[in-house]
Amino acid sequence: MRSHLLNDTTAEHYRRSVIQGVERVAAKLATTERPFTGVTVDALAPRIDAIDLDRPLHDTAAVLDELEDVYLRDAVYFHHPRYLAHLNCPVVIPAVLGEAVLSAVNSSLDTWDQSAGGTLIERKIIDWTTRRIGLGPAADGVFTSGGTQSNLQALLLAREEAKTDHLAKLRVFASEVSHFSVQKSAKLLGLGPDAVVAVPVDHDKRMQTVALAHELERCAEAGLVPMAVVATAGTTDFGSIDPLPEIAGLCEQYGAWMHVDAAYGCGLLASLKYRGRIDGIEHADSVTVDYHKSFFQPVSSSAVLVRDAATLRHATYHAEYLNPRRMVTERIPNQVDKSLQTTRRFDALKLWMTLRVMGADGIGRLFDEVCDLAAEGWRLLAADPRFDVVVEPALSTLVFRYIPAAVTDPAEIDRANLYARKALFASGDAVVAGTKVAGRHYLKFTLLNPETTTADITAVLDLIAGHAEQYLGESLDRAC
Ligand SMILES: Cc1ncc(COP(=O)(O)O)c(C=O)c1O
Repeated sequence: MRSHLLNDTTAEHYRRSVIQGVERVAAKLATTERPFTGVTVDALAPRIDAIDLDRPLHDTAAVLDELEDVYLRDAVYFHHPRYLAHLNCPVVIPAVLGEAVLSAVNSSLDTWDQSAGGTLIERKIIDWTTRRIGLGPAADGVFTSGGTQSNLQALLLAREEAKTDHLAKLRVFASEVSHFSVQKSAKLLGLGPDAVVAVPVDHDKRMQTVALAHELERCAEAGLVPMAVVATAGTTDFGSIDPLPEIAGLCEQYGAWMHVDAAYGCGLLASLKYRGRIDGIEHADSVTVDYHKSFFQPVSSSAVLVRDAATLRHATYHAEYLNPRRMVTERIPNQVDKSLQTTRRFDALKLWMTLRVMGADGIGRLFDEVCDLAAEGWRLLAADPRFDVVVEPALSTLVFRYIPAAVTDPAEIDRANLYARKALFASGDAVVAGTKVAGRHYLKFTLLNPETTTADITAVLDLIAGHAEQYLGESLDRAC
């Protein structure tokens, strides 16, 4: 069994095993014609259930054959140009190479004595990001497992900086289309059930600053504490970007921590064309970035950045066995002092490899392409009488709904759109997402693949219309 341990004596075995795996995946990627096979849970579950984990195959090739059957064949492939559903990007090759290196070396980024250069590389990526944001000379941050954890940590710091023991008095203001991790965080942080105030959005799904000012005023009048305003720079559904400079002004006026959730919109930090859309982000006290959304990085790769490094102390605890207090005076850089996690992946290496091979402009160009594609998709949808499209995109999502000329019952239109999404998924021809707007069911394209073309968009819209029409035709037959 020792032959499976990765060490000096097994380097050749390691090389051969990994190459076998890489070859399988490469072959799969090269021949995948659809983003999904349409496999059902009922078809797939028995194949996985049938595997007895207590009877190993002892042979890498046989295990890879089995993996083909239970995973690779039916996986949902984000690299395919007709995967248009959630905030999953195709990944760049230098980052995948980074992933292979980091898991083999297996550094843990909690302490210097488990990572050495890894710690410094992560710190340099954090500095690079805070400089791109413009957070100033005292800024710092740390990698996290994703936007949910980044938002949680940011709000933890905001709670501690609010300096009150009356948790029930704390209020967090976020737009009504902000990410649900804001609510989850409030709950985890022990805030009251009314802690998160949903601020209305305008036609473009951006937080209404007049409404925010009104809510902050009400909060002050009621003797409550405005703990934080969460501005979203790229809402999950609409890609809308809240008015950051105005929100910054209000945060200053009412003494609230400004957190910018740029999990999605952070790609603009590298953009050559659209960086101006997130102007004002530099005023934030904290920022969430998800490199695994718009920097074309594999999951996971996220960070929380702060204007004032000192605020990270709210996540600091010392353990004699790991990061004793004396190490601070000895200037030993232990990233665990800033993190909610202890053992932590060296995700920064993926972005490091990406920046060293492609450069930031390379990433920015890819993200600009998907923003341009979304703008073109919006024009197509706006000109197509079969569809109602909600907002002109500031990033790369399109929310729309099939509206048949002959049907006026909104509930029937809901059912036709839900059916179309399901039928498309079952066919595997394309994968799209769905959401609700004003109580009605809509469909959503999240465009993160520069390989997707306007021809793909047109073709998928035709497929959606075809499925919806089929549903309505059958529904008419049923009624007769
Ligand atoms: C705006 C926004 N914030 C936070 C998150 C959570 O990020 P993660 O899925 O990486 O935890 C998402 C995820 O879609 C998001 O869209």
